[in-house]
Amino acid sequence: MKLTAAITGVGAYVPDYRLTNKELETLVDTTSEWIVSRTGIEERRILKGDNQGTSVMGIKAVQQLLEKTGTRAEDIELLICATVTPDMLFPATANIISGGVGASRAFSYDMNAACSGFLYALATGAQFVQAGTYKKVVVVGADKMSAIVDYTDRSNCILFGDGAAAVLLEPSTDGYGVIDQVLRADGTGEQFLHQKAGGSRRPPTAETVAGREHYIYQEGASVFKFAVTKMADVAAEVMERNHLSREDVAWLVPHQANKRIIDATAHRMGVGPDKVMLNIQRYGNTTNATIPLCLADYESQLRRGDNLVFAAFGGGFTWGALYVKWAYTS
Ligand code: UT7
Repeated sequence: MKLTAAITGVGAYVPDYRLTNKELETLVDTTSEWIVSRTGIEERRILKGDNQGTSVMGIKAVQQLLEKTGTRAEDIELLICATVTPDMLFPATANIISGGVGASRAFSYDMNAACSGFLYALATGAQFVQAGTYKKVVVVGADKMSAIVDYTDRSNCILFGDGAAAVLLEPSTDGYGVIDQVLRADGTGEQFLHQKAGGSRRPPTAETVAGREHYIYQEGASVFKFAVTKMADVAAEVMERNHLSREDVAWLVPHQANKRIIDATAHRMGVGPDKVMLNIQRYGNTTNATIPLCLADYESQLRRGDNLVFAAFGGGFTWGALYVKWAYTS
């Protein structure tokens, strides 16, 4: 019997603090009007406090997921965390989250594919379920982007926010869940979007700190150009490969980096705005959390059997699209 990996629940957490466009106007030379018209973002959530890493949000998201699905932590067999802002370079944030929720029998690891990380992790977790190896896999997307945002850089600090969300994957014999995936990477995109220091190439020194090299470096306009075509390309490709017409698609679930990139992807797919999940106005770009946070926000509108197309583009470059048949009506 053919197994597929169904998403059987979603959990989410965003911190309370709202960083509004108005507050950003006091930090850098910008206006709320510019931010909204160029990106669609109105506010983002920020995790405040000392010693608060990405795992703090990941743990809360997974705890909510376990509660909602009636799953015992010790029954999780694998937990993957997609993040670019791990608590520490090691151990993996996934290990910290597993420890925090009491997933004592799970093995766990992080995946880094920048903003496409959640899709890479979901596709990877799904393989273990499809193969019949595991029955309960948790995939977390979590980032504390405020840890690597330079709040003196007006072109980047307006974009990013903090958040986490997680899904549970379980086997389905009725064809629900992850049906197909198109995942891509092009390492020559490194120059346009990266964090210069803190890794093995440029370990932290007083000089790297003074040079502000531990923050996100992004050439926004170049990244925009790639994102707008590549994300639309793979979304269209996954539709074609699976013979999905625009009417067949119930929802586009796009990475929330810029509303203009989302609009271009929807346009290319031929789907109207009523079929596009959008919460960038409230959260900004939470990197690995954007797609599962959309699922959490729209969960009550999803119906069993809905055809969903997930699509993302990010640093690397990495990009991809997944075709998911939604497994439940909540
Ligand atoms: O999720 C990972 C992938 N990342 C992305 O997908 C991000 C892709 N890039 C973008 O979303 C856009 O490029 C940005 C929102 C980052 C920037 O928008 P843009 O329309 O590409 O603007 P730009 O960088 O070409 O800059 C246009 C102008 C510049 O001024 P000059 O040189 O024309 O005088 C910027 O200095 O806008 C200026 N500018 C701003 N003005 C007011 C840049 N940031 C701001 C700002 N407020 N916050």
